[in-house]
Amino acid sequence: MANNLLQGKRGIIFGALDEKSIAWKIALRAKEEGAVFTLTNAPVAMRLGQIKELATACNAEVIPADATLETDLENLFRQSMDILGGNLDFVLHSIGMSPNVRKKRAYTDLNYQFYAQTIDVSAMSLHKTLQTAYKTDALNEWASVVALSYIAAQRTFPDYNDMSDAKAMLESIARTFGYYYGTQKKVRVNTISQSPTVTTAGTGIKGFDHFFEYANKMSPLGNAPAEACADYCITLFSDLTRYVTMQNLFHDGGFSSMGMNPAFMDLLEKGTP
Ligand SMILES: NC(=O)c1ccc[n+]([C@@H]2O[C@H](COP(=O)([O-])OP(=O)(O)OC[C@H]3O[C@@H](n4cnc5c(N)ncnc54)[C@H](O)[C@@H]3O)[C@@H](O)[C@H]2O)c1
Repeated sequence: MANNLLQGKRGIIFGALDEKSIAWKIALRAKEEGAVFTLTNAPVAMRLGQIKELATACNAEVIPADATLETDLENLFRQSMDILGGNLDFVLHSIGMSPNVRKKRAYTDLNYQFYAQTIDVSAMSLHKTLQTAYKTDALNEWASVVALSYIAAQRTFPDYNDMSDAKAMLESIARTFGYYYGTQKKVRVNTISQSPTVTTAGTGIKGFDHFFEYANKMSPLGNAPAEACADYCITLFSDLTRYVTMQNLFHDGGFSSMGMNPAFMDLLEKGTP
């Protein structure tokens, strides 16, 4: 259902790799709500992913950028403003990658070069994105920046590995930069802490299938699907949430407030968790 919530708004969407990507669903919803935007991803993702299909569906241009490289980011912001015809109103940061997770290194046996890459790609890239936007004065007043996070930033989920540390840092960057950007230009910066979702990044986590079911049973509303995450994100890009900033917002069917759900206990008693 489209309500023109983003009519007249311009933005950049990072992180659509394939049709399972959360950013992919957000791009389709943003288009439906009247936004114009550019799509971006790491150059390597251009070869592996299907971003060009999404670009056609959204009538959007694709600008490759490695979100860890300031020069790429500056080019991305400048080109996006040129293509879209003015300053921007929203940015989606939907980026995550851990070489330690990929190479199955345990948290007690991390490779520190990989660890630094995890932090750079999954957290520091948000700071680099915000700082580039800030310095190039790319965002309009009341613009909205949203990054995607996960509850492992607050609670221990051992198999989430060094991504937990990256998400804690990501959320801190959103709060701290939110202060500066809010004061300077009324720009909002928030993170959405999303339920486990079946995507390339999600399913890379050890034991994802069982964990997905566990979270689904623990959450009174069940796991929030990617499409619902897209809906929520649209509200944060819209003018209906202008005073929401520096928040980590749980979009998880209630999971974060649960201690134990009897529905899960029932399964344990039956021996079928
Ligand atoms: N899937 C889940 O269960 C889940 C849950 C909560 C939060 N999240 C978060 O949602 C976000 C999107 O992940 P997803 O689940 O849609 O998976 P995804 O694999 O589709 O998206 C991750 C994206 O990060 C991009 N990326 C990696 N390195 C990059 C770099 N150097 N520069 C630019 N882009 C780079 C990838 O190309 C990919 O498009 C991530 O931040 C992830 O941590 C995912």
